[in-house]
Order: sequence, then structure tokens, then C-alpha cells
Amino acid sequence: MMAGRLNHKIAVVTGGAMGIGRAITERFVKEGAKVVVADVNEKSGQAFTDKLDNAYFYQLDVSSESNWRELFAWVLDKFGKIDVLVNNAGIAIMSDIAHTSLDDWQKVIDVNLTGVFLGTKHGILNMQAHGGSIINMSSLAGLVGDPNAAAYTASKGGVRLLTKSAATYGAQFNIRVNSVHPGVTETPILKGIPQAQKENIINQTPLRRMAQPQEIANMVLYLASDESSYSTGSEFIVDGGTTA
Ligand code: NAI
Repeated sequence: MMAGRLNHKIAVVTGGAMGIGRAITERFVKEGAKVVVADVNEKSGQAFTDKLDNAYFYQLDVSSESNWRELFAWVLDKFGKIDVLVNNAGIAIMSDIAHTSLDDWQKVIDVNLTGVFLGTKHGILNMQAHGGSIINMSSLAGLVGDPNAAAYTASKGGVRLLTKSAATYGAQFNIRVNSVHPGVTETPILKGIPQAQKENIINQTPLRRMAQPQEIANMVLYLASDESSYSTGSEFIVDGGTTA
């Protein structure tokens, strides 16, 4: 086998059926990992992994604790260990605080924050014997307030500090936990955002364009690999200079 940056590693990527998670999965496989794509969307996830060697689909709703227990039992049975977990699945509902219903608030918090809590908790429980790396997908919106996404911003800010709490706990087991903060990235999640708002975002970005999913995957690869062995509890910003 060619020397890869993730040779012999077993990874789980939530939300791996589309967008950034799909790019992460492709990159991980290229670097020698076996990757479980854990996603609610069975049709896309299965079709994607059917065409990719060393990628496996498992249907999971990140907000269900029983789903997480079943996923890790399956992974340990099939592969014997878990080295890398990427809590990437997320949803966006674009509304300001005055127009966010309690129902929408709960939906976003359930997937984006409770989902990352459950994944990180069970990831740590299943990595304790040999260490590992957990990467939590936050956002630019987890660093600065976005007026048009109240619940989303709150969920991503929560991910940022949950990551730091988990990192300080996980360190005793050599489990590293870091967050990644992408700027606006060209994926299906953007379909609800009006063109004028996208142009506005691009104008506020020093590099004058959106990110491609592969550019986020490159950062996640670094954090998954042993190259980042001294980084934990940190936030990694990939935003084209927006917060500079
Ligand atoms: P996407 O909408 O293209 O893909 C999200 C994936 O998550 C889909 O495959 C979907 O089926 C899955 N998913 C949704 N709810 C789920 C659940 N309950 N359980 C399991 N899987 C579920 O989104 P994208 O853009 O790839 O986003 C990935 C992550 O990156 C999200 O956490 C998002 O908030 C974050 N992000 C995205 C940015 C962007 O501009 N695209 C910017 C900053 C952060």
C-alpha cells in the first residue's frame, strides 16, 4: 500500500453523504483510511459509498443516542477500533431571532449541538483504550454573530466550547478534540440562501470567493492525522480571511 497520512486508521464521518462530509470521506480514503459514512440520508450515502473502495455507509440520526450506541457497536465489531470521528452533520435554518420559532430553534439545536454532544461523548467512551482524534464542525458563525441565523449561530458557538470542555477531559486518554470553522463553502446547504446574500458574503471575504469543500477537508485531514499530535481544544479557521 502507498504511504498515506491515515494508513490503518478507522474513521467515522457524520453527514458524509453530501457536501463537506463527502469531500472529507474522499480525502480520508485517498490517504489510506477506512471510512464509515454515517448519515440520515440513506439513498445518497449508500450510492456514494457503493462507488468508493474502503467507504461504508451506516444510517444514523446524530440526535439519537441509541443510534450512536448501535453505530459504535457495529464499527467495533467490523473494524475492531475507532481512531477518528468527524462530527460534521449539520442543518441550517436561516432566520433572525425575531422570526425563529421554538420548533425551528429545537430542530437546529438537536442536530447541530446535541448531535455533536452525543457523538463526542460516545466517541470518547470508545476511544479511551488507545486514544484518537475528534473533529467537530463549527462555523464562522461559531465565532461571530450572524444576524440572519440565530439558532444556527447559537448551535455553532456551543460546538466551539463543548469541544474545549471535551478536549480537556479527553487529554488523559490521548484523545484530541478540535473544532473547524469554515467560511461560506459551496455545498447543497446553501440552497436556501438568496443570491444577493451570497454576493454580499463574497464581498466581505478578502479572498473574494467561497470555499470549495476540498479546502475544508484538507484542514480536517491534518487534524485527523498524527501530524497534529500536539493540537487539542483549539479552533481552526478556514474562512478566506473573513475574520482577519
Ligand atoms: P450539506 O447540507 O451539504 O450536508 C450535510 C449532511 O448532513 C447531509 O448529507 C445530511 O443528510 C446530513 N445530515 C443532516 N442532518 C443529519 C442528522 N440528523 N443525522 C445525520 N446526518 C444528517 O452541508 P455542508 O455544507 O456539507 O455542511 C457540513 C457541516 O459544515 C455542517 O455542520 C455545516 O453547518 C458546516 N458548515 C458549512 C458551511 C457552508 O457554507 N457550507 C460553513 C460553515 C460550516
